[in-house]
Amino acid sequence: MKLIVATVKPFKLEEVREALTGIGIRGMMVTEIKGFGAQSGHTEIYRGAEYAVNFVPKIKLEIAVSAALADQAVETIARTARTGKIGDGKIFVLDIEQAMRVRTGETNEDAL
Ligand SMILES: Nc1ncnc2c1ncn2[C@@H]1O[C@H](COP(=O)(O)OP(=O)(O)OP(=O)(O)O)[C@@H](O)[C@H]1O
Ligand SMILES: [Mg+2]
Repeated sequence: MKLIVATVKPFKLEEVREALTGIGIRGMMVTEIKGFGAQSGHTEIYRGAEYAVNFVPKIKLEIAVSAALADQAVETIARTARTGKIGDGKIFVLDIEQAMRVRTGETNEDAL
């Protein structure tokens, strides 16, 4: 199993969710975040400490998928979230050690 952590532009959330549903992904976590990438992380020094002053709102998606589906999910997110302009986001893929559906006790891929 893989955990896909992706940031997307907020207005892209619905399109990305629909596309992921279309390839069989049945659940995801969605969080409103602020972050910065290569351009927008302006920082300034104030009393010796460095502060970020320009965080941009993004949506963070966390999606647990079978390893077999991971590449297709990444490709789907990238294709639907891309505008070609700066700030289209990032996609990270991590290994999942264990998963459980709390209601039934099902584990790992049965829990997805
Ligand atoms: N190295 C990183 N680690 C964790 N999160 C990151 C990292 N870089 C970017 N992000 C997250 O991704 C969001 C979008 O970043 P962004 O798309 O601007 O990245 P970028 O590298 O600047 O690419 P681009 O050149 O397309 O703007 C950030 O707001 C932040 O939430
Ligand atoms: Mg950027």
